[in-house]
Amino acid sequence: MGNIASPHKLSTDEVDAVQAAWQVVRQDQRSIGQQVMMTLFSENPEYIHKFKHLQMIAADQLPYHTALRAHSLSILYVIHSLIDSMDDEETMRELIRKVALTHKPRSVNRDNFQRFEDAFILVLKKYGIDRRTEEAFHKCILYFTDIYEKAEDT
Ligand code: HEM
Repeated sequence: MGNIASPHKLSTDEVDAVQAAWQVVRQDQRSIGQQVMMTLFSENPEYIHKFKHLQMIAADQLPYHTALRAHSLSILYVIHSLIDSMDDEETMRELIRKVALTHKPRSVNRDNFQRFEDAFILVLKKYGIDRRTEEAFHKCILYFTDIYEKAEDT
């Protein structure tokens, strides 16, 4: 993301910080993905209604359900591709456009992504993420949502 003309452009140090933090996430991605989704739902209980494959699952079973694990892994793999493409603006834009294609029809908006980032950061704090990396992640989500909002429907 270092070479991208954007109000939320990341410095080389910030890109490095995000990519280093991601190495930590990858070591424990099943658990981190599950924790992020459960934190998202506990902080924003109404969000579960957007997820038709998850909303039918009993609340006490949700944290351990394969549907939640599979879903959170799908999200993490897309984030992985994004972080892996931070030096390649065209690919990143295309990846974000694909997320827009599947998420805009579900009325997922900037605020939803912001709450997702909050959940993500809460979990990463348990893994020792520092303030500088937290701010770098925040810039990433601002960058992401700027492109997401502008993405065309085709
Ligand atoms: C950067 C953050 C996110 C990424 C990378 C992401 C990625 C994905 C992926 C890969 C899928 C599965 C394939 C698909 O149907 O598109 C998915 C499904 C979905 N996502 Fe996201 N997502 C993100 C954030 C969110 C947020 C914040 C919400 C709403 C609060 C959301 C709502 C949904 C819904 C409703 C589905 C369909 C679930 C179902 O069918 O039960 N996503 N997402």
